[in-house]
Amino acid sequence: MIVALGDRCGAARYADVVDSAPAPLQSPSERAQALTAELALLAPAAAALLSPLGRRAALPLGIPQQSAEAAGCERQATIGQITTGAGRPLTLPAIASHFVDLDPRQAFLYAPTAGLRALREAWGARLDAPGVSLPVVTAGMSHGLSLVAEMFSGPERPVVLATPYWDNYATIWSMRNEAPLFDFEFFAGEGFNIAGMSRQLDRLDGPGTLLLNFPNNPTGYSPTRAEAEAIVERILRHPHPLCVLCDDAYHGLYFDEDCLGDSLFRMLAARGDPSRLVTCKVDGATKELVFFGGRVGFLTFSLGGRAGEILAEKAATLLRSTISSVSSPAQAAVLAALRDPLLAAQEAEVVGTLARRYRALKAALAEAELEHYPFNSGCFALLRLPAGADTNEVRRRLIREQSTGVIAVPQAHGLRVAFCSVDETDIDDLVARIARVVRSL
Ligand SMILES: Cc1ncc(COP(=O)(O)O)c(C=O)c1O
Repeated sequence: MIVALGDRCGAARYADVVDSAPAPLQSPSERAQALTAELALLAPAAAALLSPLGRRAALPLGIPQQSAEAAGCERQATIGQITTGAGRPLTLPAIASHFVDLDPRQAFLYAPTAGLRALREAWGARLDAPGVSLPVVTAGMSHGLSLVAEMFSGPERPVVLATPYWDNYATIWSMRNEAPLFDFEFFAGEGFNIAGMSRQLDRLDGPGTLLLNFPNNPTGYSPTRAEAEAIVERILRHPHPLCVLCDDAYHGLYFDEDCLGDSLFRMLAARGDPSRLVTCKVDGATKELVFFGGRVGFLTFSLGGRAGEILAEKAATLLRSTISSVSSPAQAAVLAALRDPLLAAQEAEVVGTLARRYRALKAALAEAELEHYPFNSGCFALLRLPAGADTNEVRRRLIREQSTGVIAVPQAHGLRVAFCSVDETDIDDLVARIARVVRSL
């Protein structure tokens, strides 16, 4: 039985650290067992999917929890932050002068383990997905992906994913968590390879993960509405506990009328059966708010209520045991941005700029007759090199001979071109430089 602790001092809630509290006499391992058992009743697939580490994860009644509980007290002698004695940080002007518009309490004191509550709520509202968990703030999206991998994968827990894929996936799942990768070719003809995905899902005879990344890195492809529906239908038919991870790093950058123009997370969260499916959404300020160095990401689970709280606590425990909490000034800045009435117009302006670069690149590639894979969204296009060409050698020649940097993608025999980093007026020149080398092959 899990007993919530009351607020002794009234002002702060334990929920500001996580959404639930350990019973006073529970050890972390007892609490972990209790949480996992409770999860098994509420969301059987999520519980069955947990890795051994995921099962063990539960927050102790530790320093952050005890401090949050005492937050409204008149005398504060808990967490050990250096303050005025009245709750404000004793800041050094040499640092504080760079954060003038941020609330010093938000920017200079520790954020709660799962992130600033107001930021979690504001990002949750932005997702517009009823019935899902409150997002957990992560130190950028790689960290969110890593948390999902730690919670749900391992040597016995394969990951189905399309190839070519973002290189850090192999580092996170294969190298770090020893999960087998069941990969399939991303494209079948001009569209997403749903049959290939389905064949790899058929190989799973127990819990596993399906990793979906749209808009995609490195292809720049997002599913059409019909493809999205077919992907969702196949997932809903899957007979074993499945974790679907939507890596929505490039969410919002959709440039073609045919694209679904939304995350599959919302469809899956609305239609998924918790006895077979849990969907995780990793997204963040990195690209959506063009805050690459801010390192503010979010991890949201498709389950609401108590099941969502349990998963958020397990994620927060893994976060606490590695980075402890995410940078406060970065969180405070993202929160301020989300409350800024000008944000939507500013985001639309960036999307408009990238859409113009996208159209310029499409036109220039057609004009130069350079082969490429389909792309309709995101930051990238993937060029297809002539058979026999060494992708890395072509990449190096572009640096040496054309002063042009691109990324080699040997799995697709291609070059990834980040059009998001090239001014619209330079796109023709970029393509001309690439074409010079490609034509000489
Ligand atoms: C597909 C994909 N997912 C996740 C990330 C990681 O983002 P972050 O920089 O927030 O860790 C990236 C970054 O390039 C990416 O391309």
